[in-house]
Amino acid sequence: MVDVLVTGGAGFIGSNFVRYALATHADWRITTLDKLTYAGRRENLHDVMDNPRHAFVHGDIGDAAVSGPLVEKAAIVVHFAAETHVDRSILAAGEFIRTDVEGTFVLLEAARRAAGLTRFVQISTDEVYGSVASGASRETDELKPRNPYSASKAGADRLAYSYWATYDVPVIVTRASNNYGPYQFPEKVIPLFVTNAIDDIPVPLYGDGRNVRDWLHVDDHCRAIDLLIEQGTSGEVYNIGGGNDVMNVDLTHRILDGLRKPASLIKPVADRPGHDRRYCVDTTKLRGLGWQPQVPFEDGLRDTIEWYRRNEWWWRPIKENDPAFKAYYQAQYGRTT
Ligand code: NAD
Ligand code: DAU
Repeated sequence: MVDVLVTGGAGFIGSNFVRYALATHADWRITTLDKLTYAGRRENLHDVMDNPRHAFVHGDIGDAAVSGPLVEKAAIVVHFAAETHVDRSILAAGEFIRTDVEGTFVLLEAARRAAGLTRFVQISTDEVYGSVASGASRETDELKPRNPYSASKAGADRLAYSYWATYDVPVIVTRASNNYGPYQFPEKVIPLFVTNAIDDIPVPLYGDGRNVRDWLHVDDHCRAIDLLIEQGTSGEVYNIGGGNDVMNVDLTHRILDGLRKPASLIKPVADRPGHDRRYCVDTTKLRGLGWQPQVPFEDGLRDTIEWYRRNEWWWRPIKENDPAFKAYYQAQYGRTT
């Protein structure tokens, strides 16, 4: 059996990856390590919690006594755990530094001691390149992060690389574009707008709505990570992008159309400070290994909307019963709904 440690496996991408990996690799024994912050939920793993090849550990990556031994016995580490929401990093950056930078440092220190480690996947982000006015970011491009979240991720990205260059830890770094799919916390634009619109609550579109994001279905992301675990080269960086560059205002209309809701639900609101205008990654390097996205955006968005329509059990408790979510919404949007 291959021991795989997945940090942040109770979050959006991590939980999809755990599910995907258990189904794909019969010889993988997966340990999920997750602090269960507001974004991490046991519900995200409800169907794999009892799987005999999956163990769940509730803990902080920054706690070396907990995370160290798990890293040391792993053959593969896939490090998703992070604070991930840009708007929250603008409201308060401290946890981003503690988890994304210092937490990654704790894992990397343990990785130096992990005798059987063959792969440490540092899940970075396309946001580390900063805003790209035209063209597509290549892995060799300069990093110009412009918000506390992306700056903390850039720090972790380069720290991980340094542990390969200095100590020969078998690190690869991935920089993916905006993911979408099931189990995404309803603070991110797609699940927020879908669940608001279901309830006829206005959807708060930042600024002029013309910012561009490249949408990647989470299943395509999982397939890319899996391929890179097998075929990636240590010390290398790999972009992962869906090739679906969409302006926020167009995305919003597609969501409202998909739910048969009126455009009058769109509420233009003040822009995000330092709002990156556009992200776009060049995926030639990853495609050279045989990967290409399989989920057309039209299908993926339709299925994602349908998932939130059918799984109100999953998101209604967050939006309706969680005082912390209400407090965040009030702080971010100046209103409770
Ligand atoms: P998420 O916010 O849904 O999940 C993050 C998970 O990490 C949660 O389960 C949370 O409980 C856990 N966590 C946070 N702090 C922790 C700590 N100190 N110790 C242990 N666990 C902790 O995030 P996501 O969208 O699934 O993103 C996962 C990773 O992918 C992140 O590293 C993020 O930067 C990266 N990423 C995300 C996207 C995207 O579009 N969502 C795109 C590119 C890269
Ligand atoms: O690019 C990858 C990144 O994508 C990941 O590294 C981050 O973890 C992830 O959160 C995501 O960051 P974004 O800031 O791009 O995602 P978000 O869903 O917050 O916003 C997407 C776009 O929608 C962005 O241009 C801001 C806009 N937006 C967002 C929210 C929450 C709105 O117009 N209104 C909103 O209420």
